[in-house]
Order: sequence, then C-alpha cells, then structure tokens
Amino acid sequence: MKNSKLFLGIETSCDDTSMAILRESSHGPEILYHGKFGQEEILKKWGGVVPEIAARNHLAKIPTLLDDAFTSAKISPKQIDYIAVTTVPGLLGPLLTGVNTAKTLALFHKTPIVAVNHLYAHLEAIHLTEKVTYPYLGLLISGGHSIFFWVENAHSFNVLGSTIDDACGEAFDKGGKLLELGYPAGHLIDKLAQMGNADRYEFPIGLKSSADARLSFSGLKTALRNFIEAQPEILTKKPAQFETAEENSQDFYDLCASYQNAISKALLLKMRYAIKIAKEKFQAPNKFPIVLGGGVACNSKIRESFKNKYADALFVKPEFCTDNGAMIANYGRLHAQDATPFPQCLQIDARGRFIDKKDYQ
Ligand code: KG4
Ligand code: ZN
Repeated sequence: MKNSKLFLGIETSCDDTSMAILRESSHGPEILYHGKFGQEEILKKWGGVVPEIAARNHLAKIPTLLDDAFTSAKISPKQIDYIAVTTVPGLLGPLLTGVNTAKTLALFHKTPIVAVNHLYAHLEAIHLTEKVTYPYLGLLISGGHSIFFWVENAHSFNVLGSTIDDACGEAFDKGGKLLELGYPAGHLIDKLAQMGNADRYEFPIGLKSSADARLSFSGLKTALRNFIEAQPEILTKKPAQFETAEENSQDFYDLCASYQNAISKALLLKMRYAIKIAKEKFQAPNKFPIVLGGGVACNSKIRESFKNKYADALFVKPEFCTDNGAMIANYGRLHAQDATPFPQCLQIDARGRFIDKKDYQ
C-alpha cells in the first residue's frame, strides 16, 4: 500500500476557476500543482460578478486548467485518490460547473469525492502552512462573508457572529467603486492606504454599541458616499499609478487609509465580543489560537492591527486567502473519511445555512 495520498481540489464557487493537486504524506501536505484563472479583467466592465458570465468562463477554462494540472504535476487522473470540490455555498451556475467536472472525473476513474464547504475551507487553509490545534477562533473575511467561527474540530464550526449586511470584502469593493478604483478594489485600497494617514478622517463603526459579534458595513459605505458627494474634488486627486506616492494625492491616500482603518477597527472591536461569546457559550479555554482567512485577510492593515492586539494571531498565507484550489484540496485531505464513492449523489447548496440569521443573533 502506498504511504501517500493524492488529492485534486476544484474551486469554482464564484469568479475564480482554480485547481490544485496536493500530496499528503508523513511529511504533511505538499502542493504539486496550483493554478488559477481569475475573471477580474472580464468582470471589471460589469463592476462585479455576473453569475451567468462567471459560469460560462468557468466552463471555458476548466479543460485547460485540468490539462495543465495533470501535465505540470506529472500525475495521471487515475492516480488521484480523492477529488475535493466546493459544493456549498456559492453562485449556482459557477458551483455546477465545478461539481459536474468533479463528478465526471470521479465516475470515470472511480475516485471517491469529498463535498467541500467553501467557508470552512478558507479557514482550514491555515493547516497548509501552520501547525494549529483545535479548538480555534476563526475570522473569515472574504468577498461574500464575514463570520466569526468557534471551530471545535474539523467537523464542528459554530457561528459566533456575522455581518448583518455587506461582507467585509464588499465594503472594500463597493468603497473602491465609489473611489473609482475598479473591481475588485481591496488590494488597491490596501496599497494606497499605506501612503495615507488613517486618523485624518472619521468613519463610523457599524453596531459599535451593541455588545455582540455582529458586524455591519453598510453605514460605512454610505458615509464614504456622503463624503465624496460633499467633496467631489477628492476624486481628481486619485493617483495615476499605485506604486509610489504622488504629491497631489495625499488627500486620496488619507481617505483610503481612514476608510480601511474603520473596517479594521470594527473587526478588532467585534473580535473582543466573539472571544467573550466563545467563552460563555462554548466554554472556550483561556488560551486558544485566533485564525484569519479569506481574501480580506491579505490586508496589511488588518494583519498588523490583529498582530498588535493578539500577538499569536495566525493568518492564512496570502496565496491561499483569496479563492483557490489548494484550500479545497486541503479540506479534502482533512475530510477524506467523509468521501463518497457515489459522486452522482453529490448536491450543491448555493445559499448554505449561513443565511439563517438565527444562527448568530
Ligand atoms: O475570499 P475571496 O476570494 O472571495 C470570496 O470567497 O468571497 O475574497 C475576495 C475579496 C474581494 O472583496 C477583494 O477585494 C478582497 O478579497 N481582497 C482584499 C485584499 N485582497 C483581496 N481586501 C482588502 N485588502 C486586500 N489586500
Ligand atoms: Zn471564498
């Protein structure tokens, strides 16, 4: 019997088509291939993700990516021990493209298949690079979700609090739209903010006075809109390039830094309540790891402020933060015992159960 296992991870839940081949051996996980087609350039002109267009682009890219994965890793499809694919949550059409690819491969090669929860996979990606023990408190901050989880083990994710309106990534992207930075804008705001003064402008922190781990970003977005309406000349100060500071752009840098600072402060404030709830409701021990994952966890200000407050905070490596196949293959590795030999039974669940607000209110 061979002492290592091969996992193929397939991710198509939103606008990234990504695949990874991961080998699990006694040395831990090793990524043999990791590839991605982003649709940012295509979706830019729509100002966000259009599900139908995203699905069509997944369909167009999947065959090339699959071919590239097996050729680059020098692995044949029949050598794969498990296929892991995102089934929940996501956009209906995009999810179907990945799941049907996985089902076809699995049926053809008689490979067991693991249904992956995309949200859990974002946080569990921490195991790709860090030795983290359960339980941990996970903060998922992505383009679609902002949720504090008490993670008791690989099978027990408990919601401690979540956003009641926009996700953290949406706050960056919608803010970026108002600032005429295009889509997505999180990484650009991050870059521009590094040249700005975060204390220059005051922005509101949603649900500041409610003693719970709920987040809200819609008021922040409105405040930015009001700011720009009152001072439209700020948009003329947008720099022509994003690498080095431009003299005329200081107000714009300060605005990006102040806006980003409000998001970072909101997360830090609500982390305090999330910890309290974990202790009261889940008997969390005195010390436990804090893990941040999801696309927004790439943000340098959020990383820095969490590190300052929680010295032991752990961050998913940036390349595994935004949607990617490696986190899906990794989840497959952690849940291999849940694999089904009947891929035709696999269902997708676009909404997931997180829409159910009673979970966290
Ligand atoms: O995890 P992800 O790929 O998408 C979902 O699963 O929803 O995250 C994408 C989000 C986008 O909103 C993008 O603007 C944001 O992550 N993002 C960032 C940064 N890099 C990506 N936000 C803030 N700072 C960054 N450096
Ligand atoms: Zn995601």
